[in-house]
Amino acid sequence: MQIPLSKMYVDDEIRQAVLTVLNSGRYIGGQSLGNFEEEFASLCGTKYAIGVSSGTSAILLSLMAVGIGEGDEVIVPSLTFIATATPARFLKSNLVYADIDAETYTMDPAEVQKKITHRTRAIIPVHLYGHPCDMDPIREMAEANRLFVIEDACQAHGASYKGKKIGSLGDVACFSFFPSKNMTVLGDGGMITTNDGELAHRVRMMRNHGREQKYVHDLLGLNFRLSELHAAIGREQLRHIIEWNRRRREIAAQYDAMLGNSRVVIPTKSEWAEHVYHMYVIRLKQRDKLAEYLKGRGIETGIHYPVPVHRQPCLTPDPDVSLPITEKYVDEILSLPMHPQLSDKEVQYVASKIKFFLETAR
Ligand SMILES: Cc1ncc(COP(=O)(O)O)c(C=O)c1O
Repeated sequence: MQIPLSKMYVDDEIRQAVLTVLNSGRYIGGQSLGNFEEEFASLCGTKYAIGVSSGTSAILLSLMAVGIGEGDEVIVPSLTFIATATPARFLKSNLVYADIDAETYTMDPAEVQKKITHRTRAIIPVHLYGHPCDMDPIREMAEANRLFVIEDACQAHGASYKGKKIGSLGDVACFSFFPSKNMTVLGDGGMITTNDGELAHRVRMMRNHGREQKYVHDLLGLNFRLSELHAAIGREQLRHIIEWNRRRREIAAQYDAMLGNSRVVIPTKSEWAEHVYHMYVIRLKQRDKLAEYLKGRGIETGIHYPVPVHRQPCLTPDPDVSLPITEKYVDEILSLPMHPQLSDKEVQYVASKIKFFLETAR
């Protein structure tokens, strides 16, 4: 058996949608993008959604649109993909890292509170692995200190927090449609959601060279547009996201049941979270040995992420920055195969191999 970590979904409707755009002769700024934006806003329960070229550009554009710049401090977690953090550095602002909560692996609001200074301008909570961050305390802190909250929702399409959809909980939220995500445009793509009309307007202009009319550029922008082909694929994928997330939760429950009473630490889910299990991440001291063992049995695993952001060479690590939980977990975490097309039999196979490893490994 060969079991990949993630798998993309392609069907005849997607093929047809691509052909329709190809034959239309319109490849940028057409009806597919407009429809995709409207439908995605409806998934998130927001007034606005703006399609962009990637999750990374969504984060950069959001920071640009709220006016983050030189000398500002932006609080981020360190257990995340680097693109949560690098856009702020491009704008010459300074990164300040908050450690994660030991249970949910998402940014710990109590740690965020400790990091707020008079220079702080924004917080970027990441809904890591599809588990929502504890947003209420983060929003309270932001309101009290007049900070922007930019949700990094790149791993959490369709998740909810206390019954409210991810994407509607900050000033602005950023999604990625990279192929491995819960839904994809089968290439690079992203989306920004917000309820703030003024912000939506700025983002729309900035993604398209800062213009409203063809040759007049009122704002400093760049090209962060999402193509019609990708938007058309995104619309087709969006039709399945609720069912796919349901299946992900079902698979997670199967892993939980089979691995719950073993030496591996299984993921926890807060009672206020509707988790969408972008990743199913376990923890174990013998992580590397287990990954090697599973590889030998056709099971692909991943590590999200082996090097925390605050230790990345390009961000000039400060040896005095200490994030004990993040630093401990990066050596223990292992992502198991997780995608809606996994069969019950495959899930059982993975879990049985892990159990066998645990029984026999020293
Ligand atoms: C948490 C997080 N932030 C940002 C990104 C960046 O998204 P993209 O790869 O679409 O630029 C990703 C995905 O890769 C991600 O997982």
